[in-house]
Formats: sequence, structure tokens, C-alpha cells
Amino acid sequence: MKPGASGKEQGRVALYQRLAGELAQSIASGVLLPGEKIPSVRAMCRQRRLSPATVLQAYGRLEAGGLIEARPRSGYVVSARPDKAGGERAASQPAPGSQTLDVSELVFEALEAIRDRRVGELGSAFPNPALFPLPTLAKCLSTAARRLDPWKTVEDLPPGCRELRRQIARRYLGFGARVGVDEIVITAGAMEALNLCLQAVTRPGDIVAVESPAFYAQLQAVERLGLRAVEIPTHPRDGVELDGLERALREHDIKACWFMPTFHNPLGSLMPADRKQALVEMLAARKVPLIEDDVYAELYFGSAAPPPAKAYDRAGLVMHCSSFSKCLAPGYRIGWAALGRFARQVAQLKLASSITTNVPAQEALARYLSLGGYDHHLRRLRRFLQARQADMLQALRRDFPPGTRISEPLGGYFLWVELPEPVDALSLHRRAVQQGIGFLPGPVFSARREFGNCLRLNYGHAWTPQLARAVARLGRMAAG
Ligand SMILES: Cc1ncc(COP(=O)(O)O)c(C=O)c1O
Repeated sequence: MKPGASGKEQGRVALYQRLAGELAQSIASGVLLPGEKIPSVRAMCRQRRLSPATVLQAYGRLEAGGLIEARPRSGYVVSARPDKAGGERAASQPAPGSQTLDVSELVFEALEAIRDRRVGELGSAFPNPALFPLPTLAKCLSTAARRLDPWKTVEDLPPGCRELRRQIARRYLGFGARVGVDEIVITAGAMEALNLCLQAVTRPGDIVAVESPAFYAQLQAVERLGLRAVEIPTHPRDGVELDGLERALREHDIKACWFMPTFHNPLGSLMPADRKQALVEMLAARKVPLIEDDVYAELYFGSAAPPPAKAYDRAGLVMHCSSFSKCLAPGYRIGWAALGRFARQVAQLKLASSITTNVPAQEALARYLSLGGYDHHLRRLRRFLQARQADMLQALRRDFPPGTRISEPLGGYFLWVELPEPVDALSLHRRAVQQGIGFLPGPVFSARREFGNCLRLNYGHAWTPQLARAVARLGRMAAG
């Protein structure tokens, strides 16, 4: 049970999850059709003898997963979830078989080209730095440094600052996951957490399952550790295809899966909650660990946070990695992993690889979180990002060639743009950078340099006339 939750709260959690699960199943099986109204909160409370809080929580969860939407004066209806760029989109079709990787040079070159702040906005991995509460963080950092007890250097050794871990564990409650303070290891950003997790459960030559496309740094990590990757078909809206994963598990001796079920980078896909649960159960049945990259978890546009796969982990096999880099404190390099049965092993690897995480930064973030303004900051950030997504989508639909398909993520700050063939995203990238426009080309997200007609665009910056002009110019270049 959730640490600290009352018996009544625990009961409500189980009830709302059950209700959300039942409704999700009815939608998936076609019993409830797109556009159809679902019972009002009041009617559902009456029918099921549930409290309004339980029903609202269940509906909030379905809304966050994109399965239903609230319509003014009509109540909740089943989402059409159409592909507004035209036609239902299919999952990727990676080649079967495992392979070693050679992506680092291409990734480094692409990132180097967009480092300049005048070029970087559309290509950057971060939203606008001005969106973060930097002055408050600076005060927390200076207080932490002034008051730093020299013994903290010893006490904050892995697993890391206890108060920070406690604050992080508390936030899991809002995501419907049960995570203990001692299960968490603080790291230098999510990237270190992810790397250490991968290292903990693999040996060189082992096979790991990755999405197709996948976050470029994940491919680099697989390359660096001398592992082999099997790419799993991934749907641009719903994430990893479970049938494809099951096939791969049958055909290969997969030692770990590294997936991003929530607001995937670059696709923006969000696995519906019932599929996350099925994923965790499928892997648990085979005792395969799941490394869950969840760095965009806090940036959801629905009324409730989508649950992570970790929320369904009963076997302690899900290693949930996240950080404050994308939503609070870029550059502070504070991340963590919630590790289940692997906590001790990862703490040892952390100690062996970098001793500890920057102590003043850990203390500063613990202090910031204890002050209580984090949720307010996140609400503003989410509103900003959702509005910028609308601006960017409107511009792309106007300025990009007919036939372009664009993702419409329910959170995060990336759009995945598929241009009508034939386009070479790498050459388009070179030409665009020369004109001061950055983006990330599809092949950097691929083990086999696929997605040559795709771009990842960042919409996390202020919508200015210059940015609008850059998008229009990119659209003209993409049209050839
Ligand atoms: C999907 C994904 N995972 C992990 C990271 C790394 O996060 P951090 O900066 O906290 O190390 C990033 C940053 O770009 C990311 O996009």
C-alpha cells in the first residue's frame, strides 16, 4: 500500500483504478464508441455506489490517457482520438533481429549543430529556460551552500540526500505508485539513472529491447555498453505494440526493456494505462526488468497525471527513472531512479562510478520541494506548453506540405512530424541549420538510421514572429 495513505484513501485508489480499467476496456473493445457520452459523475456515483471523488479520479485518469474528454455542457465523451493529420497511423515496422549500434557520431553532430541559442529553439531538448523558477532555486541553492553541514558530504553518499528522496517518494503518491524512500537513488540527471539501471541488469553482448524510434541517448547507452538492440514496433499515439514485444520476447533472450511509456521522446506517444499494466505483467511473467524513462511525467495536459508503468509493478522489476531537468531545474543535474529490487545494486554502481551527486544541488532541491510552490509552477508550465503546442500545430498545418502527418501529444513539448516522401531529413537539417533553423532529424532516433522523412520539433518556447517565420521557412524547405 502507499506509504502514508490512510485505509480509506487506499480503498479509494483500488476503486477508482478498477472503474478506470473497466471503462478503458469497454472503450478498447468497442462497447463504448468514439463521441459517445459516458455516464455523468453523478449518475456513475449512483449506479456504482461510489463517491464523487472516486469517480472523478477515475475519469481524470481516463482523460489523462486520452481515452475520454470533457466537453462543455455535454459532460464526458469517448475521445475520437482521430489522427487530425489524416488517416489512422500505423506503428513503426523495424526490421527483426538484434544488432550492435553505431549512432554516437551522428547524434553528436546533430546536437552540435543546434547548440547555438539562436538556432536551438526548435531542436532543443529543453523548454524555454525562462519558464523555470530560477530566482527561487538560486535562493535555495545559496541557503543550502551557506548552511551546508560538512557531514552531509558523507551522509548524502548514495542513495543520496534522505530529505530529497522523501520529497520524491511523496510525489509518487500523486501518480498512483507506491515507492519507498529507500528504493530511490539520487543521480546526476535521469541519464545517469538510466545508464546505471542498464548496467545493473546487462553484460556486454546481451540483448535489450528498445522502441522504434528511440531517444538518441538511449541508443548511445546501448552502444557504449556493447549491448545488442532489438527494436520493437511503436505506435505514434499508443506507444510500444505489445504483440510485437511478445514476439520479440519469444524470439530473443531479452535481458531488459528500456521504454518511455509516457510522452515518448520523440513520438510524444502515451501508452494507455491498461496497456502499461499489461506491459508490466507481460515482463514480470518472464522476469524481464523494465527500465522506465519518465522524464516528462509532470508535463501532462489532462486533469490528472497518467500513471507510470511503475504503478503496476508488483514484482519490483520496474526501474523508474526521472529528473528535475525538464520541469524545474535544468542544469542542476538532479535525477533519480526508483528501483524496486535493484536499489542496492544501483546504489553501489553509483558509488563506484561517480561517488555521489552534487551535494549542495541535492540539498537545494530538497529545500525547494519542502517550500511547497512546485505544483503551482508545474500548473503554469503545463498551461504554457499546451498553448504553445496549439500555436505550433496551427502553423505546421498551414505552412508544411500537404500530406505531412503531425503527432498531437497529450503532454511534453515535442512534435513528431512525418513529411511526405521523398525527403532526406539529414540533408534538410544541414540546410536548415545554415539558415539558422534547428530541429532534430529522424535518423538520430533510430538504430538503423530510419525515419529519414521525420523531424522532431520543440514547441516549448515563446511563440514569437521570428519563430513563426522560422517554421514557415522550414515548411517551404521541406516542400523542396
Ligand atoms: C527521453 C529523455 N530521457 C532522459 C533524458 C535525460 O534527462 P537528464 O537531463 O535529467 O539527464 C532526456 C533529456 O533530453 C530525455 O529527453
